[in-house]
Amino acid sequence: MKRFVMLSLLGLAFAALASPVVSEEAISEEEQQAQEEKADEVSATKELFEQTCAACHGIRQATNQNLSRDDWNWVMDDMEDYGMTWLTDEQRDDIVDFLVENYGYGD
Ligand code: HEC
Repeated sequence: MKRFVMLSLLGLAFAALASPVVSEEAISEEEQQAQEEKADEVSATKELFEQTCAACHGIRQATNQNLSRDDWNWVMDDMEDYGMTWLTDEQRDDIVDFLVENYGYGD
């Protein structure tokens, strides 16, 4: 009986030691997946940005800027006046988010 108790305690101790490791792995796997998904999204938006903005001029026209969200929206309005009329609202928003994050400041 005493031996059984000792073994059970040992088992509990192992379980206690092992469980944080297991849950840490679970979190980091989830995090890793989330990061990969975000990276895919970012590179898709980057591609969309490059293809869209390079249709008329070099992307340096955009990448050498550092603008606020309002100013980027203003640039997008300007580009639409110049003929950039094929983006969906969602694509336009994605590009603005991308521009603010990479070539801008604040909101
Ligand atoms: C339909 C053609 C067209 C597309 C597409 C286009 N632009 Fe332009 N863009 C222009 C023209 C024309 C100018 C003004 C002449 C110049 O400087 O080359 C310009 C100028 C700019 C300027 C200089 C500031 C200004 O307002 O004149 C920025 C910044 C800019 N574009 C960013 C972008 C970004 C970012 C994209 C992609 C989301 C984009 N452009 C897509 C035609 C376009």
